[in-house]
Amino acid sequence: MYRNIVFDLDGTLTDSGRGILASVTYALEKLGAPVPAPETLRLFVGPPLTGSFMKYCCMTEAQAAEGVRLFRERYVPIGWRENRVYPGIRPLMRELKNRGCRLYVATGKSRESALRVLEYFGLMSYLDGVAAPDPKEMHAEKAKLILSVCPDTADTVMVGDTMGDVEAAETAGADSVAVLYGYGAWTEAQLEKATFRADTVAALSMILLGEVPAEKGVFLSLEGLDGCGKTTQRDRVKEIMEDLGYETLLSREPGGCSISEEIRSLLLSVAHGEMTPTTEALLYAASRAQHVHDVIAPALRAGKAVICDRFVDSSVAYQGGGRSLGVETVSQYNEAGVHGCMPDVTVYFRIDHETSLRRRYSASAPDRMEQADAAFFARTERAFEQLAAENPNRFLVLDGRRTKEEVTAELQEKLPAFLTEKGLI
Ligand code: TYD
Repeated sequence: MYRNIVFDLDGTLTDSGRGILASVTYALEKLGAPVPAPETLRLFVGPPLTGSFMKYCCMTEAQAAEGVRLFRERYVPIGWRENRVYPGIRPLMRELKNRGCRLYVATGKSRESALRVLEYFGLMSYLDGVAAPDPKEMHAEKAKLILSVCPDTADTVMVGDTMGDVEAAETAGADSVAVLYGYGAWTEAQLEKATFRADTVAALSMILLGEVPAEKGVFLSLEGLDGCGKTTQRDRVKEIMEDLGYETLLSREPGGCSISEEIRSLLLSVAHGEMTPTTEALLYAASRAQHVHDVIAPALRAGKAVICDRFVDSSVAYQGGGRSLGVETVSQYNEAGVHGCMPDVTVYFRIDHETSLRRRYSASAPDRMEQADAAFFARTERAFEQLAAENPNRFLVLDGRRTKEEVTAELQEKLPAFLTEKGLI
């Protein structure tokens, strides 16, 4: 096993193509220059942009500099986040770190951009150093970058997706792994020069670790009063978790599997107006028991990010608070159903009950739960607020009264940071 591992960033740790290529296209369109074919365009990911503009778009140095300026006009506010950690990279880095390896990144990206990506995508905590060019010398040689963080290259390997990475490793006296899942266009002769080649992240894991480490699952629940917007944001949460490198599973309560979906129909049907609060609470708990057993627990064991639209906090708030059964009683009803499978993060879309009622009146016909009166929703709101106050380590509170776009922006800004801060990813 190598003691020092130096990773390239774009095309090796993260699939940054989406944001980079959209921003290159934006720059070329603004310049009125033709956009190259996709096979050529993808070569822009990784190497310094000025060179690529000159090489692939026949620009002068001055035109290329203007291209870079325009690229940044889109990349800085939007493009950097259109990025995805390759699935399998996070558990690989975590396991290498656990085994005492020292991990570095050496990238041609500016230091500022590299740090922003590494921090947002929660990779910084695995790293012992980041080598990136200073703004003054944007063309620093990669070999120098490697040596700047890792001066003793005995027992060192550079992992990268372009020939530049392999050559830099050779110059710095390190071994190299050429990864083929990124953006490099390799010839057989070039690949010969690398110490190893890896077609996939799993193959890379075998080279560096001798095994493919398992991902640990993350359980996220989405909560809030009816009309809080969580169902709209659920696809955004899924995208964020996929960008962080997870396979995801979306589900909902009550429901999520066939028995629980049948219980859902019983619970929400307006034909069952006579249902007692205790029956209602027990049915929600029963639906949850089957859902945890059939869907949630297996997906978490498989290392997925499980995103559940409502979970046990809804029972505590609606039946404990709204129906006045009491928080303790409802929590007890749920113990067997939850079976210790509590969310790691609960994203709470906070709205007050007046806003909830207003939003629901303008939506579809009310189900049985939505037929309850304003006092019920006021008690439910209070119970949610109490849960949020008592579980700050689990609750990520967002302002659900804002527009869809504003809530998405708050979610994108806060969810990855919350997961990293709590050591969940
Ligand atoms: P649904 O149509 O899924 O509403 P929403 O989109 O707001 O989640 O209906 C679920 C209803 O069931 C909702 O009014 C909240 C309620 N509920 C409870 O009262 N207790 C629970 O444990 C759960 C999961 C939901």
